Formats: sequence, structure tokens, C-alpha cells
Amino acid sequence: MQKYVVGNWKMHGSRSSAQALVSAVAACSSPAEVVVCPPFTLLSQVASALAGTAVKLGAQDCAHEAQGAYTGDISAPMLKEAGCAYVIVGHSERRQHHFESNDKIRKKALAAMEAGLTPIICVGENAEERKSGQAEANVAQQLKHCMPDSGHFLLAYEPVWAIGSGQTPTGDDIVRMHAHIAGLTPSPILYGGSVKGANAAAILSLPGVSGVLVGGASLDAGEFGTIIKSV
Ligand code: PGA
Repeated sequence: MQKYVVGNWKMHGSRSSAQALVSAVAACSSPAEVVVCPPFTLLSQVASALAGTAVKLGAQDCAHEAQGAYTGDISAPMLKEAGCAYVIVGHSERRQHHFESNDKIRKKALAAMEAGLTPIICVGENAEERKSGQAEANVAQQLKHCMPDSGHFLLAYEPVWAIGSGQTPTGDDIVRMHAHIAGLTPSPILYGGSVKGANAAAILSLPGVSGVLVGGASLDAGEFGTIIKSV
């Protein structure tokens, strides 16, 4: 099974920190497909730094249209031209702060594939849904409306309550949710939410886990290196 290690830098990084981080990441050898997703303004610089390495470039969002009057948006063909191979869509922070609907996320995923990018489509339940036993039903509902019918894409299961909190589901819960999602799509399924050097090997070895989507720990060269090497 191909494993993926994806670093989502979110709204972090400067020209100097990016250079140092990317050099360290590129020096880690691993059988995994390693992807770094910096903010838009650092894409070109990171693309140059990654040239000739096995590490791939990704973006954190794309527009649902290829071009047009969409002030502030960045389209998938623009990301492709900037050197991206991947783009995250439907991250819970986009759903929360930018009110992105499942329908919009599906359109973004389709636009990404149309441009030759691989979308990484994020889904996951919140704490209340987990507590009330609705986690699987909620994720199935999200997938029903945000997942394209066909094409090459990755899914990332990210419980909202696990993101940036230091909390993770139990191994059994991750296995159960990944099996549930695998019943709905043959696409690779990554886990995301408080993945660090210390828990990466255990999570990556769970059945049905094709990789990890890493936020905070992807900004630390040592932590991210440990995650990459644990594959
Ligand atoms: P975290 O974020 O690793 O900091 O929990 C994961 C994500 O939001 O993709």
C-alpha cells in the first residue's frame, strides 16, 4: 500500500523558515509519498527548493472555477502552473471559517482533477457528533455530498476535535472509521488530527490507514522528519 505523509503548514511560514524546513524534509529518505502544503505566497519558492527531490508540492485550497471574477481566490490551473501536484480541499478550518459547503468542496475537487491535481478531500465529525454516536453517519453524509463520483483523489479523515488539540481517537476508532469510509470509496484514506513523531508509527501501521495529514508537527523539521521516517 502506498503511504502518504502530507504536511499542512496552514497560515505559517516565511521565506527563510520555509527554505530551512523544506531542505530538511527533502533530506529524509522514505518510501512514502511526501507532500508539503505551504501558504500560496510561498508556493513558487518551495517549488524551486523541491526541484529535483522526491517531495511533492501541494496547496491548501483552490477555487471551484478555473478563472473569472473571484477576487482573492486562486484556481487549480494556477496552482498547477506554480508547481503543485496536490491540493487540500474541504479542510474543517475552511468549512468553519469560510462556510464551505459539501457541494462547494465537491466542485473544488472536480476543478482540481480537471487541472491535473490530486485533491485531498477532508471529512470528519465534531466532538458533539462523536459523543452522540453520530460520527460515522455524519462522515458518510459529508462524503455523499463532497466526494466526486470518479477520478483520482485522496480522502483525509480528520475528526475536528482532534485537530490541534493533542487528542486523537483510539486506534480502534480510527480503524473503524477508515473501514466505514473504505466501504464507500476505493480511494486511499489518510488520518489527520494531532499526528506527531511519537504517535505516527502506531497510526501509520493501523489497517486501512494510507497515510497521515499533519498540521502543527509539519512545521517542525525534527518532528516531521520522524513522521516521514516512521513509514
Ligand atoms: P494538527 O492539524 O496536526 O495540528 O492537529 C491537522 C490538520 O489540520 O490537518
